[in-house]
Amino acid sequence: MWIKSVFLSLFLLSICIASTALNVTYDSTSLLFDGQRKLVISGAIHYPRSTPEMWPGLIQRAKYGGLDTIETYIFWNHHEPQYRQYDFSGNLNFIKFLKTVRDNGLNAILRIGPYVCAEWTYGGFPVWLHHIPGIEFRTYNQPFMNEMKTFTTLIVDMVKKEKLFASQGGPIILAQIENEYGDVMGSFGDGGLKYLEWCAQFAVSLDIGIPWMMCQQNNPVAPPPMLVACNGPYCDSFTPNNSYSPKMWTENWVGWFENWGQSVHHRPAEDVAFSVARFFQLNGSVMNYYMYHGGTNFGRSAGGPLITTSYHYDAPLDEYGGLNQPKWGHLKDLHLLLKSLEKIMLYGTATTKTFDENNLESSTIFELNGTKACFLGNSHEDKDISIELLGKNFTIPPWSVTILKDCKTETYNTAKVRAQTSVKVRVPSRTNLQWASRKENPIHYKDPIIDRPSLIENKIFISSEAPDQKISNDTSDYLWYMTEFTVHDPKMGEEILLHANVSGPIIHVFLDGKHIDRWSGSYSQSGFIYEQLLNVERGKTYRLSILTVNVGYANYHAHYDRYVNGISGTVKLISQNSMHSLALTKWELRSGLSGILRNMPLGRGRWNPDVLSDRPFVWFKTTFDSPMGTDPVVVDLIGMGKGLAWVNGFNIGRFWPSAFANNQGCDSCDYRGDYGNSRENKCRSECGTSTQRWYHIPRSVLKDNGNTLVLFDEFGGDPSNVSIQTVPTGEVCANAPEDTTLVLSCEDKMLQNVPPGFYAAAATGKIFTEVSFASFGNANGTCGTVPQPYQKGTCDSPNTLAAIKKACLGKELCVIDVSEKTFGTSNCKSDVAKKLTVSLRC
Ligand code: GAL
Repeated sequence: MWIKSVFLSLFLLSICIASTALNVTYDSTSLLFDGQRKLVISGAIHYPRSTPEMWPGLIQRAKYGGLDTIETYIFWNHHEPQYRQYDFSGNLNFIKFLKTVRDNGLNAILRIGPYVCAEWTYGGFPVWLHHIPGIEFRTYNQPFMNEMKTFTTLIVDMVKKEKLFASQGGPIILAQIENEYGDVMGSFGDGGLKYLEWCAQFAVSLDIGIPWMMCQQNNPVAPPPMLVACNGPYCDSFTPNNSYSPKMWTENWVGWFENWGQSVHHRPAEDVAFSVARFFQLNGSVMNYYMYHGGTNFGRSAGGPLITTSYHYDAPLDEYGGLNQPKWGHLKDLHLLLKSLEKIMLYGTATTKTFDENNLESSTIFELNGTKACFLGNSHEDKDISIELLGKNFTIPPWSVTILKDCKTETYNTAKVRAQTSVKVRVPSRTNLQWASRKENPIHYKDPIIDRPSLIENKIFISSEAPDQKISNDTSDYLWYMTEFTVHDPKMGEEILLHANVSGPIIHVFLDGKHIDRWSGSYSQSGFIYEQLLNVERGKTYRLSILTVNVGYANYHAHYDRYVNGISGTVKLISQNSMHSLALTKWELRSGLSGILRNMPLGRGRWNPDVLSDRPFVWFKTTFDSPMGTDPVVVDLIGMGKGLAWVNGFNIGRFWPSAFANNQGCDSCDYRGDYGNSRENKCRSECGTSTQRWYHIPRSVLKDNGNTLVLFDEFGGDPSNVSIQTVPTGEVCANAPEDTTLVLSCEDKMLQNVPPGFYAAAATGKIFTEVSFASFGNANGTCGTVPQPYQKGTCDSPNTLAAIKKACLGKELCVIDVSEKTFGTSNCKSDVAKKLTVSLRC
């Protein structure tokens, strides 16, 4: 009897699974879900760049922003930091992340790689992989393929066990193997080609029941049945090099990342919207933003070398997970519009005409059963154009696409931003921080403390060559190369030059435990010559330590895995007067900091009340209460040098506020023109100031009171101006054309899914307190005070200010009918296109 019922339940279960499974297939137009063509509008959110507590909010904001899919890579080196020791806890719990995506009704794209690039240290590969005998990465090499297979299979099995592939009823509709291999495979010769074939066969053998893809693998084209996809700031001119792939875009770069010493990148919302509209105009059907939420490179996860801790990427969701307005809202309007045209675009006929030889002017008419939708494109950077459509003329601003829902009236133009701009401000919390400090005891040759077993990778190494920093398996940023020397040779004088080949980016030199020099050049894979004069007594024995500091391992280029880090080759002492030299051949290596062994990141151990400011190798500690409310929390590390920061033991990342940016690119920000070519020279911020001064402290790592902030500063810093701050919206601005409805809100937390143009917030307690500008007419200027505040134009309506005050002051949300009915008859001439320009304080 019980056997019968077990069979029955298994049968019912299988029916249940079968009924929820989604059959994902494709044709050359789009992906098909249970046979139905759909547009896919997706955004990348990398789970380790936020915290599990942030995930639901991020995913909901993505959903309200009109996305239907969330994409993530898998980060091998964090999951398997040491050989066969796995970690899927905390923000590495990618299964929980995928379930959160599913529970919010969204689909997922899983880019397993396991090479990911992603500005992630070592491109996602564990450093131990480098030490496997005979290994060669990303080519037809058995040791490499074995490891790739073991890890990828593990991930796929974990996903299958949780039934997360669409074929099992889960959210994952698409998977990726490798990453942009086509960009580097030429360097791998025949091995590259064989590896490509192997990747495809291996992926298919995993039998996941959904399509696999390879991005940037169009030439040579990825082996069938791999789908191909394009990456870059624009992919409208991409054509799959096979007959069956729909036109897919896996990485729409919504902004860019920073290196220490660079100013901050911004890609205008108008340009991102232009790239998206053009892609869909020209038959694109799957698009993923890279990134939708960039987040933070916590701990030592930033790659590079020299990539910053913030990975904000100027994404539609800001580093802390709030809305980056107007980008989020401007794209949301576009997404909802595209979704409303999905059927016509995917099932109708598309007729595209171009009006000039370079295809800069174009119109596309989609038509299905008599219903039409039109796209008019102008890719000139410098001029308006006029296009005639079905007997009517339309003016299209430069570098923009106009979408006409019915082909009769303009519904959306990518260069006309209607979404509100939210200006974030930083508010210091009231706590006055009290500091204690303590010197880091530099690790010495034969120093007993570091003989504790917890110090990983202690090695005595006898060699004429100093080994690559990768020998420490990325267990720390810090690797000590230690030796002893005695100058006996009477031909050598007492002034000798320490001579080493270093790849950077930072080294410190200690003689008999005393810090005598710091060198922070840039990074070069071929290395620099470092020289430092030492005064030595003949016959005396000295302890020499060279500390090399890693600031993220390289993550891109063919063979990047072999770039040398730290010092390399023979380190010599060269006599100044005789040119005689002594090679240092016996090295002892130690990885890490003694303060870490003493649990100082947790605030443990002995601390002194005096503050050892501006001295290298100092630990600082303070405590603070969590700021009230829900606004994001940051620590302003102004005055500090370079090092690592922890809050309640959670490593919030590397800090380096003393790395200043140059002055390039902050003067102008024109949305027009190819962002890929121009991003270094336009729309930058933080010129001539710290690359990164503020560091995110996720609220989930905070307690109400008594939080411990610990800083380790290797350069020397002064914490007296360090402060805990919150980042609320301080000002909201908008420009809305006549006869539209404008909805404004101070708070972007609890969004509801509302029609295009609306940014509604539920009751969250943030209200408008002041109207700083209001004019219904032809005002000009920009939001905020820089570069040019709003000013009235030649005309406007007399009651604008009063009407806005009435509609908004004291309110969390205000809805404004933008018309003379609301603001009174204006003194504008009939040829003025009137708009409401407002700026309100929160
Ligand atoms: C791509 C790569 C991404 C990321 C991006 C730049 O080439 O696939 O992982 O590194 O460049 O942000």
